[in-house]
Amino acid sequence: MVRPHFLLITHPVQGHINPGLQFAKLLIRLGGCVTFVTSIAARRRMTESNALDGLSFSTFSDGYDDGFKPGDDVNHQRSEIRRCGSQVLTDLIVSGANEGDPFTALIYAMLLPWAAEVASGLHLPSAFLWIQPATVLDIYYYYFNSYADVIWNSSNDPSCSVKLPGLPLLAGRDMPSFLLASNSYTSALPSFQEQLEALEKESNPRILVNTFDALEPDALRAIEKFNLIGIGPLIPSAFLDGKDPSDTSFGGDLFQSSKDHYIKWLNSKPKSSVIYVSFGSLLVLAKQQMEEIARGLLDCGSPFLWVIRAKENKEEEKEEEKLSCREELEERGMIVTWCSQVEVLSHPSLGCFVTHCGWNSTLESLVSGVPVVAYPHWSDQGTNAKLIQDVWKTGVRVTANEVGIVESDEIKRCLELVIGGGEEGGEMRRNAKKWRDLAREATKEGGSSYENLKSFVDEIKEGCC
Ligand code: UDX
Repeated sequence: MVRPHFLLITHPVQGHINPGLQFAKLLIRLGGCVTFVTSIAARRRMTESNALDGLSFSTFSDGYDDGFKPGDDVNHQRSEIRRCGSQVLTDLIVSGANEGDPFTALIYAMLLPWAAEVASGLHLPSAFLWIQPATVLDIYYYYFNSYADVIWNSSNDPSCSVKLPGLPLLAGRDMPSFLLASNSYTSALPSFQEQLEALEKESNPRILVNTFDALEPDALRAIEKFNLIGIGPLIPSAFLDGKDPSDTSFGGDLFQSSKDHYIKWLNSKPKSSVIYVSFGSLLVLAKQQMEEIARGLLDCGSPFLWVIRAKENKEEEKEEEKLSCREELEERGMIVTWCSQVEVLSHPSLGCFVTHCGWNSTLESLVSGVPVVAYPHWSDQGTNAKLIQDVWKTGVRVTANEVGIVESDEIKRCLELVIGGGEEGGEMRRNAKKWRDLAREATKEGGSSYENLKSFVDEIKEGCC
């Protein structure tokens, strides 16, 4: 039987590369091989991931080969990704066919709707990998199908809630930020629109979603026209189904870190006592907000591990940017510039995760059974926080003051709720363990995500033989 060869492309940021690489590993485990296409800058900064048999890389320029820095032009990057990405996909598909090693299918993740056009123009089947919750895809779909006005109104009126088919009641703050009046990041929405319109033109589009059936049963069925297929969570095997204990990292880290010192530190802390604080790979908080978080952590009194990323342009931190209580923070907790998050979250000393609710961080908290303090910022994060607090009930969401700052007292209140001995915290911890077990169940042989993915690969294999 021919080994199916997948071409896989994601937008070149950590939060998209991680699930993409994990998906590649699953395809390889099911008998395929994968060429992963990413930007030159992303590939250069990856720390590992060369070693896997069946995985190869191909790169293209996104216009910022030394890395995309604050102040760089996101629209220019988007158009270069489209121009050079289309070219590299075309070259790979054509040369594969000419050299007798044709690709079997293209898998492309969000923000790259043009990739499917390239594939169909060259008669290659494609599948869309949605790396956020099904609920978020549903909201975008309904926004472009009759609900734009009500969703828009919800952003101006905090008392207004919206009922979309198959979804919980959503307020403005629960909507993806790109749909709200306050959105300043204008290039994402047209891309989602283009993507959804393209999928609607296909007769039976394959849409693979980084979620699992038990987690979003209604959301996966909320769009009549589309068959959304849960194939997640896309998390390294060692922390999930345990099938491959050597699979302990995504393998695509864009930031360097050595882990001995913080793992040793975690080892020295009591069970379920540590607060882990991280806001993903993109978000940069204002100094004033950082000071409030610092104060909240110190007032709470539990040990904490806080990821504060170094500046992208490698500039030294200026004196006025330094946290006023930095020394006290270093004494009472640990600050790192990056860590192996899945490993940290699965450490027995972990008690609470303060997160911006990026979808990967959200799934990683569920898979590790760690309750969260949800501090969403933009994109899908408000929706993810809503699901965490009200649907899965594994965490509590912070409330900002009238000028948008989450004050230290509010941070402390939420931390104590989650980590303290009260009934609410106990319920969150029980729910977190329940979702951890269900996530593992879904990805084991015979589980929903395993079977869904296997059917997809079998269908592709049949098509290529
Ligand atoms: C982006 C968006 O912001 C997010 O909303 C969307 O759902 C995915 O793309 P990002 O903000 O980076 O992602 O957050 P997240 O989705 O949580 O992904 C971050 C990844 O980096 C996670 O897999 C996390 O484990 C990893 N990470 C983060 C580390 O390995 N170490 C760290 O120190 C911090």
